[in-house]
Amino acid sequence: MLSREIVKNVYWVGAIDWDRRLFDELIPLPDGTTYNAYYLKGREKNALIDTVDPVKENDLMENLTQLGVEKLDYLICNHAEQDHSGSIPAVLARYPEAKLVTNSKCKTMLMELLLVPEEKFQLVNEGETLSLGDKTLEFIIFPWVHWPETMLTYLREDKILFPCDLFGSHLATSDLFMTDPGRTYESAKRYYAEIMMPFRNNIKTQWSKLEGREIKYIACSHGPVYDKPEFIMNAYRDWTSETVKNEVLIPYVSMHASVSKMVAHLTAALIRRGVKVIPFNLTKTDLGELAIAMVDAATIVVGSPMVLAGPHPQIAYGVSLVNALRPKLKYAGIIGSFGWGGKLTETIAGMLGNLKVELLEPVIAKGHPKKSDYQALEQMAETIFQKHRNLEANKIPQTI
Ligand code: FEO
Repeated sequence: MLSREIVKNVYWVGAIDWDRRLFDELIPLPDGTTYNAYYLKGREKNALIDTVDPVKENDLMENLTQLGVEKLDYLICNHAEQDHSGSIPAVLARYPEAKLVTNSKCKTMLMELLLVPEEKFQLVNEGETLSLGDKTLEFIIFPWVHWPETMLTYLREDKILFPCDLFGSHLATSDLFMTDPGRTYESAKRYYAEIMMPFRNNIKTQWSKLEGREIKYIACSHGPVYDKPEFIMNAYRDWTSETVKNEVLIPYVSMHASVSKMVAHLTAALIRRGVKVIPFNLTKTDLGELAIAMVDAATIVVGSPMVLAGPHPQIAYGVSLVNALRPKLKYAGIIGSFGWGGKLTETIAGMLGNLKVELLEPVIAKGHPKKSDYQALEQMAETIFQKHRNLEANKIPQTI
């Protein structure tokens, strides 16, 4: 049996997925993940908070069996995505008396995604509560901490926040609680970059719903339980803030070494000026590493050769991910090389429409970079250095 008690009568009953390496067939998971579900045994009623990915349905069922759960009053769904909701049909089949407790938007999605019959639902609104006798669950509607229907559940007596995806980490671990802050921080930052960063402003605008509430534990639906909640809350305060760091990211592809020579020159020019720089050769990079770096960086410079009148397809893929993740970058540059023609700058710039960035003067070489191209790269490095220095001088104070 894997179930473990967090506090009296509150149990982790989820599953560990040691082998999963991709989420949504897109996001790399180098450390696997967990699907956390929680069983609450009240004096009068009991409840299950979220389920697990259907591939691990048997683990959840076995945990409930081992705990002797023969009847279930409430199944609470914080989020309709299938890694948490996918085992709802199986749980409802095993416990036909259970009411499926969620908000109206989530209900609609569960009916569409999992074909859950309407009569199974018990709807809740912002601030409403559900009593298990000696345990009171409060529901906090918190849209867009991953999808539009997301909500958080707060257990008042034990002061446990169950935020589903929010604050999670894709980290397969046998630890119930966080025991390795360094490793957890890295996993949580990767998770934030890949899952939550597009919703940075939604998190900030709703943060007040968490303030003033005593939280002793944060029990997410991925990764270890935080018994020191400030650890992850402070990390989110930093990641979602407007503050950017003196860092430049250079995702690039080079076919015949022209672009790689330009990247090497720009990298050296930035280092000489005291600017941190990270080149990412997209033919070799885990895109998750680029995503993590985008949490903090002030500037991105995309480097591409021209291929069939446009950017290299791997650049197009990487840039579309950058655009989708909506990092808080302030500046973007484009460097590249072409043989006979095409639209490199316009195409890449057009793919960055979600970003609120100032575009720097591009540097595009015809064939092998010449002296004038290297001079232009020096100028780009100097411009970045000056702009970063101004950002530092006009730092915006943290707002949450
Ligand atoms: Fe862990 Fe949005 O699912």
